[in-house]
Amino acid sequence: MLNRQDYLNILNANLKNKNLFKHCLAVEAAMKTLARHFHEDENRWGLLGLIHDADWEKTAAEPDKHTRLTERWLREAGEDEEMIAALLSHNYKNNGFRSPENRMEWSLYTCDELTGLIVAVALVRPDRKLSSVTVEAVLKKFPAKAFAAGVDRSQIGLCREKLGIELPDFVAIVLRSMHDISDELGL
Ligand SMILES: [Fe+2]
Ligand SMILES: [Fe+2]
Repeated sequence: MLNRQDYLNILNANLKNKNLFKHCLAVEAAMKTLARHFHEDENRWGLLGLIHDADWEKTAAEPDKHTRLTERWLREAGEDEEMIAALLSHNYKNNGFRSPENRMEWSLYTCDELTGLIVAVALVRPDRKLSSVTVEAVLKKFPAKAFAAGVDRSQIGLCREKLGIELPDFVAIVLRSMHDISDELGL
């Protein structure tokens, strides 16, 4: 299995947009906390979060290719098939792969969108800081469809069915993970 520096090298070589890079860091942090919650492999789950959108810029015009390019990079670097499958499953609606089917895959699928909602909530706080975002504030914006309209709430809402975590607890877990790296996120 590749290490974090290998993954950062792939990211740095392919993602120029700082906000996208921060999104990958946020999902890494959330995945590590979720792994801890489930007593799973924190390092492995974190790396999956870190790499999940590595090809986003290069595939922006072709949603079906998103994750397929990263798949190639990871396979060339010798990454194992379980990681590659987990990566592919988060874009199954576009890339023709199967849907997520285990906790690591569903964690990625659900926390991916939630990190985006949390960033959006932070940006409308007077101080634009994650430290002033509460679970309640995020839950209040959850049904507000016009707010952060690009965030797929149904994807986040699967936390209950697929992970056995109620939405408020899921928000708390992901928010806490992001608080811990707020400096890196610049929020
Ligand atoms: Fe993605
Ligand atoms: Fe993402």
